[in-house]
Amino acid sequence: MSNTNWKQYFDKKAETHGAAVQSSDYFNEESFFMQRDNTLRWLGEVKGKEVLDAGCGVGAFSEPLVQHNTVYGVDFSVKSLEFAAARGLKTMSEDLTALPFEKGKFDVVLCIGVIQLIEQYEDVIKELARVTKPGGTLLIQTLNRSSVQRKLLKLFEKSKKFDRMYAMNELKQLYVKYGFEQIEFLHIYHPFKFVTKSSGEGMLSDMFCTSFAIKGRKKR
Ligand SMILES: C[S@@+](CC[C@H](N)C(=O)[O-])C[C@H]1O[C@@H](n2cnc3c(N)ncnc32)[C@H](O)[C@@H]1O
Repeated sequence: MSNTNWKQYFDKKAETHGAAVQSSDYFNEESFFMQRDNTLRWLGEVKGKEVLDAGCGVGAFSEPLVQHNTVYGVDFSVKSLEFAAARGLKTMSEDLTALPFEKGKFDVVLCIGVIQLIEQYEDVIKELARVTKPGGTLLIQTLNRSSVQRKLLKLFEKSKKFDRMYAMNELKQLYVKYGFEQIEFLHIYHPFKFVTKSSGEGMLSDMFCTSFAIKGRKKR
């Protein structure tokens, strides 16, 4: 789908499901909370920081960070942003390929479930890296291209919903290219309720995790 179609798609979802996690296309609430809890725990304590939730949707993923931080939420779905604002995010309607923030503004940048929708994903990663403070963290969560389950599902797919999926190493190379170090992975195995961690590729996690998160520290 093109960018305009995705914008309309998520506006419509927010009109139908309101603040619920279905607006952000999660399989169900259980799957959303399992991913959010594990990913935020893995991110570690965040207090008194400037946080960017890039592609925040209705703001449900970064909501736990709002109480102790300033959380900016950027998304091109204006309808979704209404619900993100109600959750306490400072919202801005923008395209992620050109962010209206100065270099190095954010201590923590999150981009959850977004880059699989974006053809110009490298432009987005470059922008996210630009606005991450030296010593700050960039955490991206997306779909694992090498997953056996996803390969099987693809065989039965009637229409191609997602434009892209990613190999873990592909994103690691971009993290290195845009100045990150201490790169780590969280492997997520949907619909099972467990995750594993690693600092790189491993045969089993590569084959079986359905999604993964990658985080790295911007070099000082
Ligand atoms: C699957 S939802 C995930 C929402 C949220 N991150 C979460 O995990 O709950 C993807 C979001 O990315 C937004 N998005 C996709 N492409 C975008 C772009 N180029 N610029 C801004 N937002 C975009 C969509 O509008 C949608 O709200």
